[in-house]
Amino acid sequence: MGGIKDIVTARTGSGNYNIIIGKGVLLSGDLQDMLKNHDRVLIIASDTVYGFHRVNIDALVGLVPGGDLVLLDDSEEKKNYGHAEKYLNVMLDRNLSRKSALVAIGGGVTGDFGGFIAGLYMRGINVFHVPTTLLAMVDSSLGGKTAVNLSAGKNIAGVFHQPSMVVTDTEFLKTLPAHEFINGLAESFKHGLIGDSETRDIFFDNDLESIGNDETVKRLIYRSVVFKTSVVERDEKEGGLRAILNFGHTIGHAIESLMEYRGISHGSAVAFGMMVKLRISRELGWINTDEYQKIEDVFSRYDLCAARLSLNVDDILRHMKYDKKSSFGRINFVMVKGPGTPVYNQDIEVSLLEKAIEESLRRP
Ligand SMILES: NC(=O)c1ccc[n+]([C@@H]2O[C@H](COP(=O)([O-])OP(=O)(O)OC[C@H]3O[C@@H](n4cnc5c(N)ncnc54)[C@H](O)[C@@H]3O)[C@@H](O)[C@H]2O)c1
Repeated sequence: MGGIKDIVTARTGSGNYNIIIGKGVLLSGDLQDMLKNHDRVLIIASDTVYGFHRVNIDALVGLVPGGDLVLLDDSEEKKNYGHAEKYLNVMLDRNLSRKSALVAIGGGVTGDFGGFIAGLYMRGINVFHVPTTLLAMVDSSLGGKTAVNLSAGKNIAGVFHQPSMVVTDTEFLKTLPAHEFINGLAESFKHGLIGDSETRDIFFDNDLESIGNDETVKRLIYRSVVFKTSVVERDEKEGGLRAILNFGHTIGHAIESLMEYRGISHGSAVAFGMMVKLRISRELGWINTDEYQKIEDVFSRYDLCAARLSLNVDDILRHMKYDKKSSFGRINFVMVKGPGTPVYNQDIEVSLLEKAIEESLRRP
């Protein structure tokens, strides 16, 4: 890696695609070259992102033959099935065919939404992702998972639909609010904890200010892209190994749903979940005290788990859908047996989990 842009190739069952990473790559020609091969191109941009980056997004629309733009309210509440149907009708109104393409410009909400409608429209048209949050750059734009929410729950309706290209222009990060940046850091550190030592080193060697430097953040994104695509290549449809990417998420999702998605970011909730798991790993002797301390320092240095939660353990367990009567006092988790050594389908005693949650809730 290095130079103006980095290119990572992801290999999937439905073909290979490139992830282009760098400053200014939105208009560097790679995306336009790919889009030339389509009869129409609908660009769906988050309305917030369009507000900040109108000049570049309009320039892209102008450079693409058959290019058309539609804006999206990218609030999580609008990432739903009814709204998806509305946009499928927009695609039809704008005469998109099976040879057309959709470009999704925005954070994870826009990417999940755009990927979902592209995966459904006429049984699937090409989708190009332009992630604009750190979380979308290091995580959600990669791997082909798309989804919308149903009133019954988050991400219930979804399809696997791999992108044709991901264009990660770090220039977008300049307007990203600090708490959204931290949100993405949590998912990136997760990749370090479950496998990538270079990612861990970037976190150990920097602080909240220096990690945002152009070159450092680009390296961090590159490492996450390489790591996540390597996991997805080995298990595209989550038959086994891909589950490691859910490290911290069972507890994180329980907390988000318990708090009704208010007052806590996804990244903070996942960071809390990861901390609980790491405490259990320390208790079981899988991580020694020095390693644990080094990792905990990262959580506080980058404010990964900023929220102080006034929750109780039983409520969290209930939201994890843990049932004391049917689960025989054990619970199945992704764990780490050492920094960078994940295991999935690991049975853990619930008493250990309860203790680790209690300690994490009470931490200073
Ligand atoms: N498909 C997957 O594999 C996967 C993985 C993780 C998360 N997700 C999904 O991703 C979503 C969360 O994604 P997210 O954290 O990117 O949130 P998001 O898309 O809601 O973006 C966060 C906020 O930042 C704003 N924003 C985006 N880019 C900006 C920029 N460059 N400058 C200023 N503001 C900007 C957005 O308008 C929004 O208000 C959730 O719906 C989650 O379910 C999907």
